[in-house]
Amino acid sequence: MTLSIHENAARADELRQRLERANHQYHVLDSPEISDLEYDRLFRELLDLERDFPELRTPHSPTVRVGAPPQSLLAKHQHLTSMLSLGNAFTDEELREWEGRLLRVTGDDVRGLGYTAELKIDGAAVALTYRRGILERGATRGNGVIGEDVTPNIRTIRDIPLRLLGTDPPEIIEVRGEVYMPFDRFERMNEARARDGEPLFANPRNAAAGALRQLDPSVTASRPLRFYGFAAAAPPGAPLPFDSQWELLNTLEHWGIPVESHRQLCKDVDDASAVVARIEETGRASLNFGIDGVVLKVNSLALQDELGVVGGREPRWAIARKFAPDIAVTKLLDIRVNVGRTGALNPYAVLEPVEIGGTTVKLATLHNEDLVITKDLRIGDWVQVKRAGEVIPQIIAPLPERRTGSEQPWRMPRFCPACKTEAEKDEEEVAIYCPNVACPGRQLEGIVHFASRGALDIRGLSYARIEQLIGAGLVHDVADIFSVTADQLMALDRFARKSADNLVAAIATSKKQPLSRLLNGLGIRHVGTGAAQLLAHHFGSLDALASASEEDILRVRGIGGTIASAVTSFFSNPTTKDLIAKLRAHGVEFAEHGSAANDGALAGLTVVITGTLPNLSRQQATELVETHGGHVTSSVSRSTSFVLAGDNAGSKLEKARSLGATVIDEAELLRRIGRSHTTE
Ligand code: IVH
Repeated sequence: MTLSIHENAARADELRQRLERANHQYHVLDSPEISDLEYDRLFRELLDLERDFPELRTPHSPTVRVGAPPQSLLAKHQHLTSMLSLGNAFTDEELREWEGRLLRVTGDDVRGLGYTAELKIDGAAVALTYRRGILERGATRGNGVIGEDVTPNIRTIRDIPLRLLGTDPPEIIEVRGEVYMPFDRFERMNEARARDGEPLFANPRNAAAGALRQLDPSVTASRPLRFYGFAAAAPPGAPLPFDSQWELLNTLEHWGIPVESHRQLCKDVDDASAVVARIEETGRASLNFGIDGVVLKVNSLALQDELGVVGGREPRWAIARKFAPDIAVTKLLDIRVNVGRTGALNPYAVLEPVEIGGTTVKLATLHNEDLVITKDLRIGDWVQVKRAGEVIPQIIAPLPERRTGSEQPWRMPRFCPACKTEAEKDEEEVAIYCPNVACPGRQLEGIVHFASRGALDIRGLSYARIEQLIGAGLVHDVADIFSVTADQLMALDRFARKSADNLVAAIATSKKQPLSRLLNGLGIRHVGTGAAQLLAHHFGSLDALASASEEDILRVRGIGGTIASAVTSFFSNPTTKDLIAKLRAHGVEFAEHGSAANDGALAGLTVVITGTLPNLSRQQATELVETHGGHVTSSVSRSTSFVLAGDNAGSKLEKARSLGATVIDEAELLRRIGRSHTTE
């Protein structure tokens, strides 16, 4: 099934909204609502959409937040040979099966020569090209065949040598390995970002991958990246200067490349299984970087060649032995409900704090009431909690055998936890909503969104401070933010003269943000950053959008019916009208500069097209007028700026003449637009 561009744009917007909301729930509220799996799925869907439809990309997409610039901006780099991925084994049994397959191909050779066991570093794969020992290029893995040239960024990573040590490095060699961020540096970086009001990174891997793909190397340089090498490639025909993987690792180390020190030689898979068990049980917790398994490789490079690659992607001669997911048992202390800015009520679990895979888990996602009922979770239960690799913890199941009888079944409250309004089911009957637009819980979330980075980006206006302002009665809606004074802030806890002045200044600065950010911040249903930009660009001002009909809005390329009707219903709401009046009174910017609607040659003009034009189709003429800022309407009235008339124009032309409107032909239109090209 192929979707229209409108549907794709709407889907991309929806994905962005859901991802941003999930980020916020996770990082700011500490009460995630979707699983990490679901998050990854949505994230990947958005990445795919943005890759297939570059016109849907926006500078504020959550895909950009992790640091990935639009792919086209980094130059492509073709790897000497494919950068392979790895097959997985989750049990010792699967490892033995893998060895069985090897033995069938090679006879007894494998047992004789053994395997290397190396940690599987959880970061971003890169290939470093050294020519006569000098670092010439660094590239990301990309799709394995073609990656992106990130040489200036690679040069900022301090443990990557710019020149190999030793006397005779090969003419050309590609050193492959993983760029990662150590845990302690990651945490320090996130703490600093939190202090500066910047969004936090979900995990060290995302942080490393994002830092690597920055367009500005000084940004990469400011992120604490490290490197471990574990593979090498040579140009076709040129032999690698080692016979075994073990020798490869040791040679890289001699050249000054960091190589992870837990590597071991194993004589067979039983030996390897013992190594894996040791690392999983004791070694892992003492590491200062993330790993997601142990990689076993047939040691002999000649045998590796013989074994080859399956499906062009996975070598037969290597496998990743993954660890069992991190599971802990703890007590379910409470189930609480949080209300989002759209009114959705989301249950989450409050847990007795427990360590899982090196981090303390206090909350877990519960999605919805059905999940709690299906799993028969009761408050007071002992539960198994899983952190699948990263991000949002989930409850696997309760341990009914440990029940004492005092556990309490839970039901979704029928009322909003914030305003006590009776909750309603949504159209699909899956989620429960607070229908009260004035709900303080929803308002809090709405204001948080308004101040967030993708919207007005008010530095220093954190979640806690917004709660404080609402609690003090200073702020009831987003417009009230602009009337807060430094003196009022100083009367509150945790504000000093400087922090109060800074916040007031940040609020004042945010008034000048472009319309697209304001539109996103207003929290119109279905309008995320992408739709906000399309609308802002097309209409050019808040007033033009507010007075637009659904039909007018539907003419914006990339905007579909759901968004159009959400926008008109938002602006027809009396509460919105009051809010806009307040924002206007505070001097908030209502215009989008650089938009055709303001700056195009036909900005603000209303045009009627009639008759057959010599060259342009009706559709082409309409698009031309619109891309230069004009509006096309179907009937002539006093507000018509000019009529574009072709052959057989008929009654519209007569009406135009009778009203004294200007009539122009196609050549004149092109001339007017042409003039705008030369001045743009
Ligand atoms: S070997 C066959 N060794 O894991 C060669 N990969 O899932 C493939 N990785 O893209 C790579 N630590 O980025 C190898 N010691 C290690 C590794 C490792 C991490 C990554 C690598 C690869 C991915 C495959």
